[in-house]
Formats: sequence, structure tokens, C-alpha cells
Amino acid sequence: MRILVLNDNTPGKGFLNDWGWSVLVEGKNRFIFDADTKGEILLHNSRVLGVSLKGLDFAVLSHWHYDHYGGLPLVGELNPGIPLYAPPGNGTMVRQWGFRVGEVRKAGELEAGVWTSGPLNGFEQAIGVETPSALVVIVGCSHPGVEGLTRAVLEVSGYGKAHLVIGGFHYLPAGALDRLSELTEFIAPAHCSGEDAKAYVRRKYPEKFVEVRTGSVIEL
Ligand SMILES: [Fe+2]
Repeated sequence: MRILVLNDNTPGKGFLNDWGWSVLVEGKNRFIFDADTKGEILLHNSRVLGVSLKGLDFAVLSHWHYDHYGGLPLVGELNPGIPLYAPPGNGTMVRQWGFRVGEVRKAGELEAGVWTSGPLNGFEQAIGVETPSALVVIVGCSHPGVEGLTRAVLEVSGYGKAHLVIGGFHYLPAGALDRLSELTEFIAPAHCSGEDAKAYVRRKYPEKFVEVRTGSVIEL
């Protein structure tokens, strides 16, 4: 399995970039998690990475903030009829974009080997994706807290620990990063994690730290 970072706040050479978050996951199934602010950025960066945004099995949205859903109209246009697993809301728009509405109301298995935490605090979900031997947790902005999201994903999937937690940690303070580090082998702070959180993980947990920027490809 691999995770391709289509856009992150940190730019990558040769890629377009803005404030947003989107990853393409290629494993048992092929799907996009969050869609940045602009379809053009996703399209350009996927071409540079040599992957197609067509032929996706489904799409997942962590929460209804523009830096995560802005590129979804393009994803729907390229993949008509696939489900969009998103927290409740905007059903009419989701259909207009070309998706089948996959409203996520509680924790559970979305597709084979892909679990959701369900919307925590009523509005943001994280997912767990099974690799052949481990579980990878992907988060959006972690407004409800990355620790709680990770615990919810571990609980629903039956895993005791994550292999990797990747995504936006929303300016997580040191104490919370310490608690998160106990839940996972590797940590990839991205998007809205903040430079302080990245520097802290890099310094305190160098054996766990995974650097992420636009265009990163993480092989698992
Ligand atoms: Fe965000």
C-alpha cells in the first residue's frame, strides 16, 4: 500500500501548493481522502506523481471545511457514481458533484479494510486503513483531537496500536503529542499540525517522525 500526498501546506518542488490537505491511497482499494481547495491543484500534482484521479473506488471527506472539500467537484466529475463517505450534510451538493451520498453517522467499516471513527463532536471523522500487516490512521484537521480520533479508529478496527498516524493535528501541544506517540509506531504531522508540533516530534521521537510535504509518497 502507498499514500501519495496530493497537497499539503508544506510545498514540494515541482508541485502546485496551497493551504489544504488531500491524499490518494492505493492499496486493497484506491481512494482519495480529502480534496484540498482546488481541483486544478489535485490534477496537476497527480500528473506530476504519475497517477490518475480516475478509477477511484470511493472518496472520503474528514469534515466540511473548504481546505478539505474544495477539490471534490473535480473528483466527482472524474468518478461519477462512486460513494463519498462524509459526515452528514450537503447531500444535494454531493449528488450534484456526481457522487453517491455515503453519509457517515457512526463508527464502523466503510469498505473492506477501511474503518471510520464516525463523526466526533458531530462533525469530523478519521479513518483507519488496513495494510497487509498493520493499521494506518489518516486524519484531516483533528478538530476533535487526534488522540480521540485515533483511539476511536483503533477501537472500531480492533487494532491495539497504529502503524502510522498521518494528517493535520491542529497545532497539537507537546503533552498531547506524547500521548499520541504511545498509540502509534510512526507519526506524520502534516497540514495544520504547525511547525512547533513537527519540530517537537522530530526532536523527541526521531525514530517515529515521518516528514510530509506536497508530493510525498509513503510506502507501507
Ligand atoms: Fe484543515
